[in-house]
Amino acid sequence: MSSESLFSPDLISSEVAAALPEGYTIRPLQKSDYHAGFLDVLAVLTTVGDVSEQDFNERFQEMQASGALGKGAGGYHTLVILNGENKIVGTGALIVEKKFIHSLGQVGHIEDIAVAKDQQGKKLGLRIIQALDHVAEKVGCYKTILDCSEANEGFYVKCGFKRAGLEMAHYY
Ligand code: ACO
Repeated sequence: MSSESLFSPDLISSEVAAALPEGYTIRPLQKSDYHAGFLDVLAVLTTVGDVSEQDFNERFQEMQASGALGKGAGGYHTLVILNGENKIVGTGALIVEKKFIHSLGQVGHIEDIAVAKDQQGKKLGLRIIQALDHVAEKVGCYKTILDCSEANEGFYVKCGFKRAGLEMAHYY
């Protein structure tokens, strides 16, 4: 694995890669992606804040060190879709939680899905979710869960998810 990749590229589904529009690619987040528009795409989702390249690198290293090394490993699996000009146009993350219950089970958490405004409606969101589902299955998660707004429920239903439970939050 390249030390510049957040997790092993072997976990990227070749079927999902093949289903992307002509010239588009999908791969794990890389350290150099600070300069490829990664934070701009996340800004479609929410406030990103003032994140310097050093801040980005430190957070990347913390995530990388948490052990996203392949089958059985926990950790952060942030992936990106790039257009033909190598600009990031979509991103999403799978965080793998290790448990004692369910025979030392693992649960995938899907977070921070974003597609650039001018790229929405091309099935890139669907491909991101399919790619994250593939990672979750490959590393041995027994389920994947996520929180979303009512406005996005239809998108996740199209991606194969169903409503389950109720989200609660305590902000600090
Ligand atoms: N409600 C209902 N259906 C939807 C919605 C929606 N909000 N968005 C897309 N769909 C449908 C599409 O019409 C399509 O249906 P089809 O197969 O019948 O044609 C299907 O879902 C797949 O759509 P995509 O083209 O893959 O969607 P897109 O690439 O536009 O990405 C996304 C969807 C990620 C929600 C995008 O609009 C976006 O980035 N929004 C802003 C950020 C955001 O809200 N992210 C999700 C936060 S929740 C989280 O991160 C866990």
